[in-house]
Amino acid sequence: MRHGKIRSVRCGFFLRRGPVDMAEPLHIDIISVFPEAFKGFLSESIPARAARAGLVRVRTVDLRDFSDDRRRTVDDRPYGGGPGMLLKPEPWFRAVETVRRPHSRVILLGPAGRTFAQPVAQELAAERHIVLMCGHYEGFDERVRRLADEEISLGDFVLSGGEIAAAAIADAVIRLLPGALGGGAEASRLESFGEDGILEAPQYTRPPEYRGMRVPEALVSGDHARAADWRRRQAIDLTARRRPDLLERGGTYEA
Ligand SMILES: C[S@@+](CC[C@H](N)C(=O)[O-])C[C@H]1O[C@@H](n2cnc3c(N)ncnc32)[C@H](O)[C@@H]1O
Repeated sequence: MRHGKIRSVRCGFFLRRGPVDMAEPLHIDIISVFPEAFKGFLSESIPARAARAGLVRVRTVDLRDFSDDRRRTVDDRPYGGGPGMLLKPEPWFRAVETVRRPHSRVILLGPAGRTFAQPVAQELAAERHIVLMCGHYEGFDERVRRLADEEISLGDFVLSGGEIAAAAIADAVIRLLPGALGGGAEASRLESFGEDGILEAPQYTRPPEYRGMRVPEALVSGDHARAADWRRRQAIDLTARRRPDLLERGGTYEA
């Protein structure tokens, strides 16, 4: 079988980034043994809209295309015994060496990595090319780690594969790209973990009263400065109650 060819581009949009930012789109390559898993996620909602707007280009790459046998084998039994199967090094080296460019940031997904959080998403949103390596079965042959610039974990739990982690990371990164959210830069600035790194204030929509629960007066008053002040105080108050650690991390949060 001939290598060096990416056959499984399931979702590729390569349009010019809009007037917000004329730079190249962020390019995300996701390498997986289950590239079909991304189909729904990539064709829906904000990731799909951002792709159509030319802000991001997401490709899924089938690891099996880089196997060297007819059965497209990518796994084998672990040396020394033990349960399950491990992903072999050869297909991973061929796949990553095919998609990697000099400016790429190659990320292996696994429980031993740095825990993913909004500051990591912000870092990644500033990259030009991200390669996400999704493990499966019992994980990777240890030598595969050599390919990665770093490892990222979604949290202290074990997933069956890196696909959910890759989808979560791609989504969190894509919504940070300028122009990805309907409300513009303001939208992600005011969100949880936004500009101040604190939680978002409670939000309401119509009706103004439902089952005796009224929308706070400051929000229906029509006074934008008063509404903004209310939101700010509520965000600080909510963060102090639920996530005081976020306030302790720094910044001045005058109520
Ligand atoms: C069943 S897990 C392997 C777990 C591995 N045997 C261990 O104990 O650390 C298969 C794959 O899922 C992905 N995965 C599992 N948990 C993850 C997490 N918390 N964050 C990111 N990826 C994860 C990794 O790519 C991993 O190689």
